[in-house]
Amino acid sequence: MKRLHGKNILLGITGGIAAYKSAELTRRLKDAGADVRIAMTKAATEFVTPLTFQALSGHPVHTELLDEHAEAGMGHIELARWADAILVAPASANFITKLTQGRADDLLSTLCLATEAPLAFAPAMNQAMWHDLATQANCKTLRQRGLFQFGPAAGEQACGEVGEGRMMEVPDLIDHLANCFEHGELQALNVMITAGPTYEPIDPVRFIGNRSSGRMGYALAEAAREAGASVTLVSGPCHLETPERVQRIDVETAKQMHQVVFAHLPQCDIFIAAAAVADYRPAEARDQKIKKDHESLTLELERNPDILSEVAHSQTRPFVVGFAAETQNLAQHAKDKLQRKNLDMIAANLVGQSDNTKQDIGFNSEYNSLQVFWPDGQTTLETTRKTLLARQLIQLIANHYQQKKNNEKDTA
Ligand code: C5P
Repeated sequence: MKRLHGKNILLGITGGIAAYKSAELTRRLKDAGADVRIAMTKAATEFVTPLTFQALSGHPVHTELLDEHAEAGMGHIELARWADAILVAPASANFITKLTQGRADDLLSTLCLATEAPLAFAPAMNQAMWHDLATQANCKTLRQRGLFQFGPAAGEQACGEVGEGRMMEVPDLIDHLANCFEHGELQALNVMITAGPTYEPIDPVRFIGNRSSGRMGYALAEAAREAGASVTLVSGPCHLETPERVQRIDVETAKQMHQVVFAHLPQCDIFIAAAAVADYRPAEARDQKIKKDHESLTLELERNPDILSEVAHSQTRPFVVGFAAETQNLAQHAKDKLQRKNLDMIAANLVGQSDNTKQDIGFNSEYNSLQVFWPDGQTTLETTRKTLLARQLIQLIANHYQQKKNNEKDTA
């Protein structure tokens, strides 16, 4: 976890049973090379003693706002300035409310108000408290203010209930925190990504669409931005929030997507086609709603442009990455597509019912696994959340892009 190495992380701990997991979190942050200081609320110290965190972090734990000793060492404003990032984990419902209100009535809330560093919080509470509209509204406000919300996860809770509200697991917290620090593999590059389904109109109220959620493309946009790229996301209709600092252009049909992609192609260094583009569209979109006057209805369909293939065959082509969703013979189909569409890389996954173990991955799921092929090699990215998978894929793309550029320089 190179991005945490040498970073000053202020870990804020509030009063919740998940506070015991923050001991492990402290250790893992240290393992990742971070310098960790701890600030605990009074309630947190009822769950785990400051001594535990002092031993694990190697520094005295900060608990009081007005403490002569602490202020003589590192005062609260100094501590807020010292931090490269603050992570509040667990963040109780009460603390989230305090953050939302901008309170400064204890040390941790004051630090959060005083810092200019990235601020992240990991909600942890009973599932009913989590679902309460007040908590939901508070979290939304915090996200809109630019705070990073990590989790919560779902599952069995300490109170015996089951549902959403558990603190996100430590490895995921570490991973998310690392991503608050941008890395520069794609610095100064323009990346264009297509995402989501396309809707092909039949008449003013009906269309031909598909089940793509857009999650993979959106996760790739976020990961590419984290890697320093300028990102243009050409998105079919989907209900996802636009990742921060990503330029999103909404389209509905394949033809519109084609037009937008080609308008932006001259500036593009890397093109990633993650959209599930309809292969066919109704030959004629009716002006009026079709009435059910007949026993049967035949729609004539015509081919849509293959955006990916056209980009890859264009004269000044960027580095081109495609996706392949297959129901069988994954490797063979993917390799054929790589060659036929003239791609630099293709990421393939099995979809549909052909493999029982894979039913929950792929389309419309948060999880996915990918087999990635390039002209003289391949690798497998194991099943994980699409956000994590996207970062791995972006890393792979960045490496191959760089290799290609180096080869071009050598042969020039
Ligand atoms: O040929 P197939 O549809 O399986 O190829 C999938 C890949 O091609 C995906 O990367 C998808 O985004 C892209 N594609 C496209 N335009 C189309 C059809 C697919 O860009 N009309």
